[in-house]
Amino acid sequence: MERNVASVINGRPVDGAPGGRMTIVNPAHTDEVVAEVALGDADTFVAAARAAKDAQQAWADVPAPVRGRAIAHIGRIVEANQDALARIVTREIGKPHVEALGEVREIIDTCDFFLGEGRRLYGQTVPSEVPDKNLFTFREPVGVVSVITAGNFPVAVPSWYLVPALLTGNTVVWKPAEYAAASARALVELFHAGGLPEGALQLVLTDGEQTFAGLEKALDAGLVNKVGFTGSSVVGARIGELTGRHVQSACLELGGKNPLVVTPSADLDLAVEGALFSGFGTAGQRCTSLGTVIVHESVHDEFLRRYDAAVEDAAIGDPKQDVLYGPMLSKKFADRFEDYLDWVQPHQKVLGSTSTGRITSANPRKGFVGDPDAGLYYHPVIVDGLQPDDRIFLEETFGPLVGVTTYRDLDEAIALANRPGYGLSSSIYTTDPKEVFRFRRGVSAGMVSVNNSTSGAEAHLPFGGNGKSGNGSRQSGMWVLDQFTRWQAVNWDYSGRLQKAQMDVVDLTPDESFRLDALDA
Ligand code: UN1
Repeated sequence: MERNVASVINGRPVDGAPGGRMTIVNPAHTDEVVAEVALGDADTFVAAARAAKDAQQAWADVPAPVRGRAIAHIGRIVEANQDALARIVTREIGKPHVEALGEVREIIDTCDFFLGEGRRLYGQTVPSEVPDKNLFTFREPVGVVSVITAGNFPVAVPSWYLVPALLTGNTVVWKPAEYAAASARALVELFHAGGLPEGALQLVLTDGEQTFAGLEKALDAGLVNKVGFTGSSVVGARIGELTGRHVQSACLELGGKNPLVVTPSADLDLAVEGALFSGFGTAGQRCTSLGTVIVHESVHDEFLRRYDAAVEDAAIGDPKQDVLYGPMLSKKFADRFEDYLDWVQPHQKVLGSTSTGRITSANPRKGFVGDPDAGLYYHPVIVDGLQPDDRIFLEETFGPLVGVTTYRDLDEAIALANRPGYGLSSSIYTTDPKEVFRFRRGVSAGMVSVNNSTSGAEAHLPFGGNGKSGNGSRQSGMWVLDQFTRWQAVNWDYSGRLQKAQMDVVDLTPDESFRLDALDA
């Protein structure tokens, strides 16, 4: 694969680098260059949006079943290239190969789900309140969709937007995270190789500020009809404001502080396994990663003992080998994680590793796999003794850090779970069905796992959050169709006269004085 990566408009790489150039290095081997990126600027974004707009009507005119076939082809092309795509992901953001393969699988699953939707995209026939009149609903594409995504799932999460948006007849301008540009370019190549017209999917590589400026210009010019954004809650709020000013509502998938409740009846080993994977898989850099374990005070000590042992024993290191997690996504995330470590307070107790901070030969981790000095590796951190007002309890700490706190009754556990104000994923470990349903009802999260980890949602259930995690929009499965289509209501009167709704409606008159004879003796 070519190392130079640029924006792609109508299938052609864009010349020049008005937004500057950046070098992407492998976070597991920082002296290894993965790609040289030519960044565009706000005008590149606008040009891509204009190209997408020009291509939109022709793509919408392609019959939906044929668009579904294109999605089928894309799914097959991705499947045939899954190992290569996963290896690009591993090299670029350090996700262990098995997890990267899982991420690619999520694209294939998404294509599998939506290829048949091309033959459904059902509308409805609805009875009218007057005779000789038919009512119908039709789904129509919104137009041009602008998709802005993070780099922790550099290909799966974008596909959750791209596949349904394209299937429903929209064209797309995709702005991936710059630090995952090679994975993004590879995905665009696969979509085009699957037979998608080049104008239907445009790729823009720009930094955050230029993207925001470009998006504002494109919205002002009427070139963008819907925005999908996956990233931080702070940026999500800005996108929400911007789209709100243009009378649009964005599809927002933001951060999380995902709780995992361990009740007295829980299978503790199972809970430890779930907390290990959801807390430290992907180095804790999923939006669904575990934030805080909320454990019943009666099982706290035993849970913590087993959890600490499991985290101490976990294999961390070279993502090409069999490890729980590899490096941080990029230097930016490593630096930010160091800031989070400063939030640890004296009343809290740190466990989970031989040390904290960056893993190096001078600050080693027992059992580290590979050469720690080569990459951006961090010790896993368990922070026990969290109090409800602690910063680590309240704010997302994107990285390998899990907090632990205790509760006395389930209402308190639910209140603690909701306290940070996010609402993406959540989990409860219990063998008591009453607790399951009370928790499900009380927790503010869009996703609830029972005896399973907070991460690892399947690609055909609604994915999304509430509160600081999102504005209620849902991705995936049939639910996402409402993001990328608008309902059109049609009424067709064939009576030959004007029948006025509400006014020309016959009524059947009831006998309001009627009472039953109870047949008493
Ligand atoms: C994300 O981190 O943005 O549920 C998405 C999961 C994955 C997706 C995470 N299937 O953990």
